[in-house]
Amino acid sequence: MAAAERQIGCRVSLILLSFAASLLQLNIVLNPGSSSSPPADGDLLHVRAVGDNDTLHFLFCSLGAPTLLLIHTNTSLSTVKVNWTQLIDRNNSGGLEVEPKSSILYSTAIVFSRLLEYDDVNDTARPPSELFPPYELQDFSWSRLNLSDPTILLCGTPRTFTNGSLCLRLSVFETEGRGETWPRLLHTANSSQVEVWLDGMLPRAIRSRFLLELQAVGGAYPLSRVEAHRTIDDEFTPSIFKVSQWVPALNGSSDIPGFVQWKPVAYRQPHAVLEDATPCHHSDPLPQSGEKVSAASCLVRAFYSEPEAFGLNISFGLAGEPFYNSTRFLRWTALVGSGTPPIDAISLLVVSMLAVGLGVPMVLLLLGGVCVCARKRAATTAYEPIN
Ligand SMILES: *[C@@H]1O[C@H](CO)[C@@H](O)[C@H](O)[C@H]1NC(C)=O
Ligand SMILES: *[C@@H]1O[C@H](CO)[C@@H](O)[C@H](O)[C@H]1NC(C)=O
Ligand SMILES: *[C@@H]1O[C@H](CO)[C@@H](O)[C@H](O)[C@H]1NC(C)=O
Ligand SMILES: *[C@@H]1O[C@H](CO)[C@@H](O)[C@H](O)[C@H]1NC(C)=O
Ligand SMILES: *[C@@H]1O[C@H](CO)[C@@H](O)[C@H](O)[C@H]1NC(C)=O
Ligand SMILES: *[C@@H]1O[C@H](CO)[C@@H](O)[C@H](O)[C@H]1NC(C)=O
Ligand SMILES: *[C@@H]1O[C@H](CO)[C@@H](O)[C@H](O)[C@H]1NC(C)=O
Ligand SMILES: *[C@@H]1O[C@H](CO)[C@@H](O)[C@H](O)[C@H]1NC(C)=O
Ligand SMILES: *[C@@H]1O[C@H](CO)[C@@H](O)[C@H](O)[C@H]1NC(C)=O
Ligand SMILES: *[C@@H]1O[C@H](CO)[C@@H](O)[C@H](O)[C@H]1NC(C)=O
Ligand SMILES: *[C@@H]1O[C@H](CO)[C@@H](O)[C@H](O)[C@H]1NC(C)=O
Repeated sequence: MAAAERQIGCRVSLILLSFAASLLQLNIVLNPGSSSSPPADGDLLHVRAVGDNDTLHFLFCSLGAPTLLLIHTNTSLSTVKVNWTQLIDRNNSGGLEVEPKSSILYSTAIVFSRLLEYDDVNDTARPPSELFPPYELQDFSWSRLNLSDPTILLCGTPRTFTNGSLCLRLSVFETEGRGETWPRLLHTANSSQVEVWLDGMLPRAIRSRFLLELQAVGGAYPLSRVEAHRTIDDEFTPSIFKVSQWVPALNGSSDIPGFVQWKPVAYRQPHAVLEDATPCHHSDPLPQSGEKVSAASCLVRAFYSEPEAFGLNISFGLAGEPFYNSTRFLRWTALVGSGTPPIDAISLLVVSMLAVGLGVPMVLLLLGGVCVCARKRAATTAYEPIN
């Protein structure tokens, strides 16, 4: 039984004292408390990020549709208890519990529920009413979770054929930083990053485009609306000047308890250059049947007795852009976290460019003004009548 557990404790260096407030200690366990090694149908990953007076639990499960569950508790001593019988049966809530239960401040689950495909005959990049039959991600055959600290890789293929795959890579962080590949999202220790890519899938039409359906399940504060923020800075995500945030609808000035954040862009190559960027759009979050989401996802079933769910689609591509068949690759990245979403400060580069852009003309104007004045004075002097 101990063989099924892999513990990787990551202690954080004291040198980074200035960041001390946002540093966490990560504890990663695969299939906690499982008696068979490993469970037959899928894996459960538990990451405990322990702060001074609170704990963030990240749970990632491949039993059914891939799901990321985030639980924020108000003590550094909270633990997660898994009942594998119940978790695998998937017909009862209670398979996953947090102890003490009263310490839970906030929780949200993100379910990657379906992959949708349509034939964009008229190249409008708008999903028509008739799509191809959807791929239910709960029916994919998923690989074992591949844990290469501190990222976790999960790939799956539709059971009907074996060419191509949909992969998810989860990253958890001890400290603030930025993703290594575009869109280079800014992350904090309170967030995790999920990259989703679609590699080598055989499209069902030459002009196929794809949509990814996500469900957000919450307790008191379900994620129910998406805000788009503009930014003038594209230093880290070239040509993208927006960031989208899926957050709860809150009254007044309450702090945001949790979020999903992304830049509206996907990439058509694994090692993307600027030409491989393709915009993506999201549909408005709509209330979903909690029962249906619960049936698809082991974590939702196990943790929520009365799940409240909102779902949305992310669609990839614009009218006139290459279809999926051109590269047979698409990658999209999002951040899932607790607390307020990280915001890019305007970078030094942009500040200096603004300074140069506004400053140089200003200096020229001033110089010009001085010159004109000087010449005018000279002229006035020259024409002074001689009496
Ligand atoms: C992370 O969350 C904790 C507790 O909510 C908060 O004290 C801390 O400032 C947050 N860190 C960052 C980097 O947002
Ligand atoms: C954690 O709680 C202790 C005792 O309540 C308090 O002294 C300390 O300042 C808290 N730390 C943070 C980072 O909030
Ligand atoms: C797990 O759940 C099953 C079914 O509800 C129950 O019979 C069993 O005792 C539980 N196991 C533990 C360790 O709590
Ligand atoms: C859940 O499923 C298991 C095995 O499929 C079955 O033995 C059990 O009776 C079911 N429990 C409920 C409450 O439906
Ligand atoms: C955590 O929150 C619960 C419920 O809100 C409260 O009963 C408990 O005292 C809190 N614990 C701490 C350590 O603040
Ligand atoms: C494509 O355009 C043709 C002609 O305008 C139209 O008849 C047809 O319904 C369109 N197909 C779709 C799927 O929109
Ligand atoms: C696990 O991931 C690592 C790095 O991402 C990769 O090199 C390795 O081949 C993977 N292992 C399996 C069994 O997929
Ligand atoms: C899968 O790929 C192989 C080699 O690339 C090819 O021979 C085969 O026809 C493909 N299968 C399907 C179902 O397209
Ligand atoms: C994809 O494009 C290639 C050429 O780029 C073409 O030969 C192939 O038939 C296309 N595949 C589908 C499914 O349309
Ligand atoms: C917002 O306020 C309304 C009415 O005041 C209340 O019914 C609702 O529960 C509140 N929602 C939240 C999330 O606090
Ligand atoms: C996603 O798009 C499909 C096809 O248009 C639609 O049937 C489904 O309801 C959408 N899902 C959500 C959550 O809006």
